Amino acid sequence: MSMKHGQSQHFLSRVTLRVGRLARELVGLRAERPTVSRATEGVLFPQPSGPYIIDDDELRQIICENNKHPLAKVTGRVWKQDPAMPGNLKDVNLKAFRGDNAFVWQTRGAPLSNFVVSALWAERKDSHQLLRNTHEDGAFGVECLQILNRLWSRDLIDSLLEMNFLLDHIPTLEGKTVVDVGAGYGRLLTRMADVTESTRLYGVDGVAMSTAICRAYVRYRQQDHRIGVLSLKEADEFDDAIDLAINVHSFSEMHIEAVRFWLGWLRCRSTRWLFIVPNRPGPSLNDGTDLLPHLDEYGFELEVSARKYSDQTVGDHSLFQGDYYLFRSREETHRPQEARINST
Ligand SMILES: C[S@@+](CC[C@H](N)C(=O)[O-])C[C@H]1O[C@@H](n2cnc3c(N)ncnc32)[C@H](O)[C@@H]1O
Repeated sequence: MSMKHGQSQHFLSRVTLRVGRLARELVGLRAERPTVSRATEGVLFPQPSGPYIIDDDELRQIICENNKHPLAKVTGRVWKQDPAMPGNLKDVNLKAFRGDNAFVWQTRGAPLSNFVVSALWAERKDSHQLLRNTHEDGAFGVECLQILNRLWSRDLIDSLLEMNFLLDHIPTLEGKTVVDVGAGYGRLLTRMADVTESTRLYGVDGVAMSTAICRAYVRYRQQDHRIGVLSLKEADEFDDAIDLAINVHSFSEMHIEAVRFWLGWLRCRSTRWLFIVPNRPGPSLNDGTDLLPHLDEYGFELEVSARKYSDQTVGDHSLFQGDYYLFRSREETHRPQEARINST
Protein backbone atom coordinates (compact mmCIF):
# COMPACT_ATOMS: atom_id res chain seq x y z
CA MET A 1 0.00 0.00 0.00
CA SER A 2 1.52 3.36 -0.98
CA MET A 3 1.78 6.28 1.47
CA LYS A 4 0.02 9.58 0.77
CA HIS A 5 2.26 12.61 0.15
CA GLY A 6 1.76 14.12 3.66
CA GLN A 7 2.38 10.78 5.35
CA SER A 8 5.52 10.11 3.35
CA GLN A 9 6.88 13.61 4.10
CA HIS A 10 6.28 13.00 7.80
CA PHE A 11 7.92 9.57 7.59
CA LEU A 12 10.94 10.95 5.73
CA SER A 13 11.49 13.82 8.14
CA ARG A 14 11.39 11.30 11.04
CA VAL A 15 13.89 9.07 9.23
CA THR A 16 16.13 12.08 8.54
CA LEU A 17 16.02 13.12 12.19
CA ARG A 18 16.86 9.59 13.33
CA VAL A 19 19.72 9.42 10.82
CA GLY A 20 21.18 12.68 12.15
CA ARG A 21 20.88 11.47 15.75
CA LEU A 22 22.40 8.07 14.93
CA ALA A 23 25.27 9.70 13.09
CA ARG A 24 25.97 12.10 15.98
CA GLU A 25 25.90 9.23 18.47
CA LEU A 26 28.14 6.99 16.41
CA VAL A 27 30.67 9.47 15.20
CA GLY A 28 30.48 12.09 17.91
CA LEU A 29 30.46 15.02 15.52
CA ARG A 30 28.13 17.98 15.64
CA ALA A 31 26.34 16.92 12.46
CA GLU A 32 23.15 18.67 11.52
CA ARG A 33 20.32 17.16 9.57
CA PRO A 34 21.60 15.98 6.18
CA THR A 35 20.27 18.11 3.37
CA VAL A 36 18.92 16.16 0.44
CA SER A 37 17.23 17.60 -2.56
CA ARG A 38 15.39 14.48 -3.71
CA ALA A 39 13.89 13.33 -0.46
CA THR A 40 12.23 10.30 -2.00
CA GLU A 41 15.61 8.80 -2.77
CA GLY A 42 17.58 10.62 -0.13
CA VAL A 43 20.44 11.09 -2.54
CA LEU A 44 21.32 14.13 -4.57
CA PHE A 45 22.44 13.87 -8.19
CA PRO A 46 23.77 17.36 -8.83
CA GLN A 47 24.77 16.72 -12.40
CA PRO A 48 23.20 13.51 -13.74
CA SER A 49 25.56 13.40 -16.67
CA GLY A 50 28.41 15.47 -17.99
CA PRO A 51 29.64 16.19 -21.51
CA TYR A 52 31.17 13.45 -23.66
CA ILE A 53 34.87 14.04 -23.02
CA ILE A 54 36.45 10.87 -24.40
CA ASP A 55 38.79 11.34 -27.34
CA ASP A 56 37.61 8.67 -29.80
CA ASP A 57 40.85 8.71 -31.82
CA GLU A 58 42.81 8.15 -28.65
CA LEU A 59 40.46 5.30 -27.67
CA ARG A 60 40.93 3.59 -31.05
CA GLN A 61 44.71 3.89 -30.68
CA ILE A 62 44.66 2.37 -27.18
CA ILE A 63 42.40 -0.50 -28.32
CA CYS A 64 44.78 -1.19 -31.18
CA GLU A 65 47.83 -1.22 -28.88
CA ASN A 66 46.15 -3.25 -26.13
CA ASN A 67 44.93 -5.93 -28.54
CA LYS A 68 48.56 -6.66 -29.44
CA HIS A 69 49.62 -6.90 -25.81
CA PRO A 70 50.01 -10.31 -24.09
CA LEU A 71 47.72 -9.15 -21.30
CA ALA A 72 44.81 -9.11 -23.78
CA LYS A 73 44.90 -12.94 -23.66
CA VAL A 74 44.01 -13.01 -19.99
CA THR A 75 41.37 -10.33 -19.67
CA GLY A 76 39.21 -11.61 -16.85
CA ARG A 77 35.55 -12.49 -17.07
CA VAL A 78 34.49 -9.33 -15.25
CA TRP A 79 36.22 -6.79 -17.47
CA LYS A 80 36.10 -8.34 -20.92
CA GLN A 81 35.70 -5.52 -23.43
CA ASP A 82 33.85 -6.71 -26.51
CA PRO A 83 36.13 -5.85 -29.47
CA ALA A 84 33.01 -5.71 -31.67
CA MET A 85 31.53 -2.97 -29.48
CA PRO A 86 34.55 -0.82 -28.61
CA GLY A 87 32.26 2.12 -27.79
CA ASN A 88 30.77 0.31 -24.78
CA LEU A 89 32.19 -0.83 -21.48
CA LYS A 90 30.01 -2.95 -19.22
CA ASP A 91 27.44 -0.80 -17.41
CA VAL A 92 29.44 2.42 -17.72
CA ASN A 93 27.51 5.43 -19.03
CA LEU A 94 30.19 7.38 -20.86
CA LYS A 95 28.72 10.74 -19.84
CA ALA A 96 28.15 9.63 -16.26
CA PHE A 97 31.11 7.35 -15.64
CA ARG A 98 31.28 8.37 -11.97
CA GLY A 99 27.75 7.08 -11.45
CA ASP A 100 26.73 3.65 -10.22
CA ASN A 101 28.67 1.14 -12.29
CA ALA A 102 31.44 -1.43 -12.16
CA PHE A 103 34.12 1.21 -11.52
CA VAL A 104 32.66 2.27 -8.17
CA TRP A 105 29.37 1.07 -6.78
CA GLN A 106 27.42 3.97 -5.36
CA THR A 107 24.75 3.47 -2.72
CA ARG A 108 23.29 0.31 -4.34
CA GLY A 109 20.26 0.22 -2.10
CA ALA A 110 22.19 0.98 1.10
CA PRO A 111 20.14 3.19 3.40
CA LEU A 112 20.79 6.90 3.49
CA SER A 113 21.94 6.50 7.10
CA ASN A 114 24.90 4.36 5.91
CA PHE A 115 25.94 7.14 3.54
CA VAL A 116 25.77 9.68 6.38
CA VAL A 117 27.67 7.46 8.81
CA SER A 118 30.43 6.83 6.23
CA ALA A 119 30.77 10.52 5.40
CA LEU A 120 31.00 11.57 9.04
CA TRP A 121 33.43 8.77 9.79
CA ALA A 122 35.66 9.84 6.87
CA GLU A 123 35.56 13.42 8.14
CA ARG A 124 36.47 12.33 11.64
CA LYS A 125 39.26 10.05 10.40
CA ASP A 126 40.84 12.75 8.23
CA SER A 127 43.79 13.14 10.58
CA HIS A 128 46.01 14.37 7.73
CA GLN A 129 43.51 17.14 6.97
CA LEU A 130 43.16 16.20 3.32
CA LEU A 131 39.67 17.68 3.14
CA ARG A 132 41.32 21.10 3.04
CA ASN A 133 42.45 20.34 -0.49
CA THR A 134 39.91 18.03 -2.05
CA HIS A 135 36.18 18.31 -2.44
CA GLU A 136 33.25 16.82 -4.34
CA ASP A 137 31.56 18.77 -7.12
CA GLY A 138 29.11 16.12 -8.29
CA ALA A 139 30.43 15.86 -11.85
CA PHE A 140 29.65 12.96 -14.20
CA GLY A 141 26.74 11.44 -12.36
CA VAL A 142 28.33 10.61 -9.01
CA GLU A 143 25.75 10.12 -6.23
CA CYS A 144 26.08 12.79 -3.59
CA LEU A 145 24.77 13.75 -0.22
CA GLN A 146 25.08 17.18 1.32
CA ILE A 147 25.85 17.63 5.03
CA LEU A 148 26.19 21.23 6.15
CA ASN A 149 28.09 22.90 3.32
CA ARG A 150 29.93 19.86 2.08
CA LEU A 151 28.96 17.53 -0.75
CA TRP A 152 29.92 13.90 -0.13
CA SER A 153 30.30 10.99 -2.53
CA ARG A 154 31.61 7.45 -2.12
CA ASP A 155 34.52 8.60 -4.29
CA LEU A 156 35.42 11.25 -1.72
CA ILE A 157 34.81 9.02 1.31
CA ASP A 158 36.83 6.04 0.03
CA SER A 159 39.66 8.20 -1.31
CA LEU A 160 39.98 10.05 2.00
CA LEU A 161 40.03 6.82 4.01
CA GLU A 162 42.58 5.25 1.66
CA MET A 163 44.92 8.25 1.59
CA ASN A 164 44.76 8.73 5.37
CA PHE A 165 45.59 5.03 5.84
CA LEU A 166 48.56 5.35 3.49
CA LEU A 167 49.83 8.48 5.20
CA ASP A 168 49.57 6.75 8.58
CA HIS A 169 52.12 4.20 7.37
CA ILE A 170 54.18 5.91 4.65
CA PRO A 171 55.77 9.13 5.84
CA THR A 172 54.79 11.18 2.79
CA LEU A 173 53.32 10.84 -0.68
CA GLU A 174 55.02 14.06 -1.73
CA GLY A 175 57.44 13.60 -4.62
CA LYS A 176 56.84 9.85 -4.73
CA THR A 177 56.35 7.82 -7.89
CA VAL A 178 52.91 6.33 -7.50
CA VAL A 179 51.27 3.93 -9.95
CA ASP A 180 47.62 2.92 -9.71
CA VAL A 181 47.13 -0.44 -11.47
CA GLY A 182 43.52 -0.75 -12.65
CA ALA A 183 42.93 2.94 -12.04
CA GLY A 184 39.31 3.03 -13.25
CA TYR A 185 38.30 6.58 -14.16
CA GLY A 186 41.15 7.95 -12.02
CA ARG A 187 39.27 8.32 -8.74
CA LEU A 188 42.21 7.96 -6.37
CA LEU A 189 44.85 9.45 -8.66
CA THR A 190 42.94 12.71 -9.08
CA ARG A 191 42.39 12.89 -5.31
CA MET A 192 46.13 12.33 -4.76
CA ALA A 193 46.86 15.14 -7.19
CA ASP A 194 44.47 17.34 -5.16
CA VAL A 195 46.26 16.73 -1.87
CA THR A 196 49.92 16.59 -3.00
CA GLU A 197 52.21 18.58 -5.25
CA SER A 198 53.44 15.35 -6.77
CA THR A 199 54.16 15.25 -10.49
CA ARG A 200 54.89 11.55 -10.67
CA LEU A 201 51.45 10.02 -10.46
CA TYR A 202 50.57 7.33 -12.99
CA GLY A 203 47.61 5.17 -13.87
CA VAL A 204 47.59 2.02 -15.94
CA ASP A 205 44.75 -0.28 -16.91
CA GLY A 206 44.28 -3.43 -18.93
CA VAL A 207 40.98 -2.27 -20.42
CA ALA A 208 41.25 0.27 -23.22
CA MET A 209 38.02 2.10 -22.48
CA SER A 210 39.03 2.52 -18.83
CA THR A 211 42.34 4.04 -19.96
CA ALA A 212 40.53 6.40 -22.36
CA ILE A 213 38.02 7.48 -19.69
CA CYS A 214 40.80 7.98 -17.15
CA ARG A 215 42.84 10.12 -19.56
CA ALA A 216 39.78 12.20 -20.39
CA TYR A 217 38.86 12.68 -16.72
CA VAL A 218 42.42 13.63 -15.74
CA ARG A 219 42.43 16.22 -18.55
CA TYR A 220 39.01 17.48 -17.42
CA ARG A 221 40.48 18.00 -13.92
CA GLN A 222 43.47 19.77 -15.53
CA GLN A 223 45.86 17.39 -13.85
CA ASP A 224 47.35 15.85 -16.98
CA HIS A 225 50.71 17.55 -16.38
CA ARG A 226 50.95 15.62 -13.09
CA ILE A 227 49.14 12.35 -13.81
CA GLY A 228 50.28 10.13 -16.66
CA VAL A 229 47.74 7.56 -17.83
CA LEU A 230 49.72 4.84 -19.57
CA SER A 231 48.59 2.51 -22.32
CA LEU A 232 49.91 -1.04 -21.99
CA LYS A 233 52.63 -0.26 -24.53
CA GLU A 234 53.69 2.77 -22.51
CA ALA A 235 53.57 0.66 -19.35
CA ASP A 236 56.04 -1.78 -20.90
CA GLU A 237 58.36 1.15 -21.64
CA PHE A 238 57.92 2.73 -18.21
CA ASP A 239 61.27 2.49 -16.46
CA ASP A 240 61.02 4.52 -13.24
CA ALA A 241 61.41 2.89 -9.86
CA ILE A 242 58.00 2.85 -8.16
CA ASP A 243 57.66 4.03 -4.57
CA LEU A 244 54.02 3.09 -4.14
CA ALA A 245 51.73 0.91 -6.23
CA ILE A 246 48.00 0.95 -5.64
CA ASN A 247 45.41 -1.64 -6.45
CA VAL A 248 41.89 -0.91 -5.30
CA HIS A 249 39.20 -3.46 -6.22
CA SER A 250 40.99 -4.41 -9.42
CA PHE A 251 43.26 -7.43 -8.80
CA SER A 252 40.12 -9.03 -7.36
CA GLU A 253 38.44 -8.84 -10.74
CA MET A 254 41.34 -10.10 -12.86
CA HIS A 255 42.48 -13.54 -13.98
CA ILE A 256 45.29 -14.77 -11.69
CA GLU A 257 47.71 -14.73 -14.64
CA ALA A 258 46.96 -11.02 -15.16
CA VAL A 259 47.62 -10.38 -11.46
CA ARG A 260 50.93 -12.25 -11.77
CA PHE A 261 51.81 -10.20 -14.84
CA TRP A 262 51.30 -7.00 -12.83
CA LEU A 263 53.20 -8.34 -9.80
CA GLY A 264 56.14 -9.11 -12.09
CA TRP A 265 55.81 -5.70 -13.72
CA LEU A 266 55.92 -4.03 -10.30
CA ARG A 267 58.90 -6.09 -9.12
CA CYS A 268 60.84 -5.18 -12.25
CA ARG A 269 60.34 -1.54 -11.31
CA SER A 270 61.58 -2.10 -7.76
CA THR A 271 58.23 -1.25 -6.23
CA ARG A 272 58.67 -0.55 -2.55
CA TRP A 273 55.09 -0.43 -1.25
CA LEU A 274 52.00 -2.13 -2.61
CA PHE A 275 48.58 -1.13 -1.30
CA ILE A 276 45.77 -3.58 -2.04
CA VAL A 277 42.07 -3.16 -1.34
CA PRO A 278 40.42 -6.40 -2.48
CA ASN A 279 36.75 -7.21 -2.92
CA ARG A 280 37.27 -10.20 -0.63
CA PRO A 281 39.59 -10.34 2.35
CA GLY A 282 42.78 -12.39 2.27
CA PRO A 283 43.50 -10.59 0.00
CA SER A 284 41.91 -12.91 -2.53
CA LEU A 285 40.36 -12.80 -5.96
CA ASN A 286 36.61 -12.89 -6.56
CA ASP A 287 36.96 -16.60 -7.36
CA GLY A 288 38.55 -17.19 -3.93
CA THR A 289 42.19 -17.54 -5.11
CA ASP A 290 44.46 -16.57 -2.23
CA LEU A 291 46.86 -13.84 -3.35
CA LEU A 292 49.32 -14.23 -0.47
CA PRO A 293 51.46 -17.01 -2.03
CA HIS A 294 51.70 -15.02 -5.27
CA LEU A 295 52.62 -11.83 -3.45
CA ASP A 296 55.23 -13.75 -1.50
CA GLU A 297 56.68 -15.25 -4.68
CA TYR A 298 57.13 -11.75 -6.10
CA GLY A 299 58.79 -10.53 -2.90
CA PHE A 300 55.96 -8.61 -1.24
CA GLU A 301 55.37 -9.16 2.46
CA LEU A 302 52.53 -7.83 4.53
CA GLU A 303 53.46 -4.77 6.54
CA VAL A 304 50.04 -3.89 7.95
CA SER A 305 46.36 -4.55 7.39
CA ALA A 306 43.27 -2.86 8.75
CA ARG A 307 39.54 -2.77 8.34
CA LYS A 308 38.34 0.16 6.26
CA TYR A 309 35.90 1.10 9.03
CA SER A 310 37.82 0.08 12.14
CA ASP A 311 34.79 0.44 14.41
CA GLN A 312 32.52 -2.52 13.92
CA THR A 313 29.28 -0.62 14.60
CA VAL A 314 30.25 2.01 12.06
CA GLY A 315 31.32 -0.73 9.64
CA ASP A 316 27.96 -2.44 10.00
CA HIS A 317 26.24 0.85 9.08
CA SER A 318 28.63 2.01 6.39
CA LEU A 319 28.77 2.18 2.61
CA PHE A 320 30.71 -1.02 1.92
CA GLN A 321 33.03 -2.26 4.65
CA GLY A 322 36.39 -3.44 3.30
CA ASP A 323 39.99 -4.32 4.11
CA TYR A 324 43.26 -2.51 3.52
CA TYR A 325 46.56 -4.36 3.03
CA LEU A 326 49.90 -2.63 2.75
CA PHE A 327 52.73 -4.82 1.46
CA ARG A 328 56.40 -3.96 1.43
CA SER A 329 59.02 -5.30 -0.91
CA ARG A 330 61.56 -7.60 0.72
CA GLU A 331 64.30 -6.63 -1.71
CA GLU A 332 63.88 -3.05 -2.69
CA THR A 333 66.75 -2.82 -5.12
CA HIS A 334 66.73 -6.17 -6.89
CA ARG A 335 65.15 -6.12 -10.36
CA PRO A 336 64.11 -9.64 -11.45
CA GLN A 337 62.98 -10.77 -14.88
CA GLU A 338 59.76 -9.41 -16.33
CA ALA A 339 56.83 -11.80 -15.78
CA ARG A 340 55.49 -13.68 -18.75
CA ILE A 341 51.91 -14.61 -19.47
CA ASN A 342 51.80 -18.41 -19.56
CA SER A 343 48.10 -19.15 -19.71
CA THR A 344 45.11 -18.16 -21.77
C1 LIG B 1 36.31 -2.04 -9.86
S1 LIG B 1 37.28 -1.09 -10.95
C2 LIG B 1 38.27 -0.20 -9.78
C3 LIG B 1 38.69 1.14 -10.28
C4 LIG B 1 39.58 1.96 -9.35
N1 LIG B 1 40.72 1.20 -8.86
C5 LIG B 1 38.81 2.53 -8.19
O1 LIG B 1 38.93 2.02 -7.08
O2 LIG B 1 38.11 3.53 -8.38
C6 LIG B 1 38.43 -2.28 -11.63
C7 LIG B 1 39.43 -1.71 -12.63
O3 LIG B 1 40.33 -2.77 -13.01
C8 LIG B 1 40.59 -2.62 -14.40
N2 LIG B 1 41.08 -3.90 -14.94
C9 LIG B 1 40.36 -4.99 -15.27
N3 LIG B 1 41.17 -5.96 -15.77
C10 LIG B 1 42.42 -5.46 -15.74
C11 LIG B 1 43.70 -5.98 -16.13
N4 LIG B 1 43.85 -7.20 -16.64
N5 LIG B 1 44.78 -5.19 -15.95
C12 LIG B 1 44.66 -3.95 -15.41
N6 LIG B 1 43.48 -3.41 -15.06
C13 LIG B 1 42.38 -4.15 -15.21
C14 LIG B 1 39.25 -2.19 -14.97
O4 LIG B 1 39.38 -1.63 -16.24
C15 LIG B 1 38.83 -1.18 -13.91
O5 LIG B 1 39.36 0.09 -14.20
